Amino acid sequence: MTAEHLGALAAEIAREAGELARRRRSEGVALAATKSTLADIVTEADREVEQLIRDRLRAERPDDGFLGEETGAERGSSGFTWIVDPIDGTVNYAYGIPGYSVSIAVVEGEPDPERWQGVAAAVCAPALGELFTAVRGGGAWLDGSRLAVSGETPAGALLGTGFGYDPLTHDGDIATVRRVMTIARDLRRMGSAAIDLAYLAAGRLDGFFERGLNAWDFAAGALLVQEAGGLVSRLDPDVPRPMLIAGGRAVHDRLRDLISTSGP
Ligand code: IPD
Repeated sequence: MTAEHLGALAAEIAREAGELARRRRSEGVALAATKSTLADIVTEADREVEQLIRDRLRAERPDDGFLGEETGAERGSSGFTWIVDPIDGTVNYAYGIPGYSVSIAVVEGEPDPERWQGVAAAVCAPALGELFTAVRGGGAWLDGSRLAVSGETPAGALLGTGFGYDPLTHDGDIATVRRVMTIARDLRRMGSAAIDLAYLAAGRLDGFFERGLNAWDFAAGALLVQEAGGLVSRLDPDVPRPMLIAGGRAVHDRLRDLISTSGP
């Protein structure tokens, strides 16, 4: 199967999974459990949507590996792994805010973000009616339009970020915000890292940074940004909460300089 075929499959499953998430949301959300902290929740829909994605992939790509937020990792034998967040922005989802997404990436190589190569990605935001896609070497797309990250930001960069669910980490994250505001025209905290990165690819944000994201939060969005001409990097990937930085080259590099000197 070519990268284009894998991309078409990712897009088809993301659309189907997004439709299921949207339907379940309209029927009302049932909280299933809390995870790392009280604020870190999982709904019945997260589990059902991940199961749908996993079943579809098992049928279509039985030899591929899988890494999902809710059901964990399974190694494959083909060299490809699917990295899945069934609902990225679960808190938005639970509160009825439309900024949530299904994030699906297929990567090649070791299932480790520092070593894999993104092959194809789809981020479907069903309540916003948008499907972002990318294929390695084939660009990033929103419906029929090719995406490009923004260029010059003379009025300052419109930045996106997020905060982890552990209250103990908030002070450090806020200190980072204070530091990067020197290059910002404004800051958005929208609640789905996958949508933040898709927006960056579309030129709707100029830069993005967040500490402590999991691979399933950024795998698809990172390929969207790279295929839209942007850079994505992680500082100190071996620390417990690595910092992910993304943007067009100029904003990426300025964020990296500011953040790498800002401490933990
Ligand atoms: C979360 C979202 C949020 C980010 C959190 C993530 P989830 O993912 O991406 O924007 O700030 O760090 O955990 O838990 O809704 O899949």
